[in-house]
Amino acid sequence: MAATPLDLGDLRRLSPIDAGFGGGRGKPIDRHYIEGFLERHADDVHGHVLEVAESTYTERYGGGRVTARDVLHLDPAHPGVTWAADLADGAGLPSATFDCFVCTQTLQYVYALEAAVATLHRILAPGGVLLLTVPGISQISPYDRQRWGEHWRFTPQSIERLLRTAFDDVEAAGHGNVLASIGFLHGLACEDLTVAELDHADDRYPLLVTARAVKEGAA
Ligand SMILES: C[S@@+](CC[C@H](N)C(=O)[O-])C[C@H]1O[C@@H](n2cnc3c(N)ncnc32)[C@H](O)[C@@H]1O
Repeated sequence: MAATPLDLGDLRRLSPIDAGFGGGRGKPIDRHYIEGFLERHADDVHGHVLEVAESTYTERYGGGRVTARDVLHLDPAHPGVTWAADLADGAGLPSATFDCFVCTQTLQYVYALEAAVATLHRILAPGGVLLLTVPGISQISPYDRQRWGEHWRFTPQSIERLLRTAFDDVEAAGHGNVLASIGFLHGLACEDLTVAELDHADDRYPLLVTARAVKEGAA
């Protein structure tokens, strides 16, 4: 029996509604989950904090708990960079230094994942916390692919297994559902969906994967 025809409406097109992750319409849908995760773990954003490319989340979630902030980027010419380094080898990055590393949307660009996780572990102070987010179901970013290469998509299982190569204390989770995933792939924004639609959890559709990992030792 043939399936009942569906009205695909505005989604029946071969180019995305917004090719920039929904940024042209409002807040990109993955940021709903990234920011929710950081909000829930805001207490971890304290002391000496490292963030990738900017210090937006360090400032927003760490506030007065932050005593020093650093910004990591591959490109030393990027504004505000304090550490220019490749996570794959970590050359030049100090050991046992950061109380928190806010590492959002970066690991998909590093081909040598286990080596990068060894760096993440090495640079954290004893008791330091890694707050990590990576894409699960997502378009490619041409900007990033051209500069450092876009190599990976993740599941909660793959991130947990990967982080456990260096950390004992790991909590990984997936976020999203089929509607949020379709919306994100088409470049809809948070404003196009309701909060209830965004927050409905269906573990078959991990649009975004988050992980909190803690380095052993006293904080
Ligand atoms: C999309 S930004 C991610 C951070 C941003 N704060 C965010 O939340 O989207 C991508 C960053 O990945 C960094 N990156 C790519 N490959 C890297 C590598 N091998 N080692 C360290 N950083 C890398 C680039 O410097 C770039 O700033």
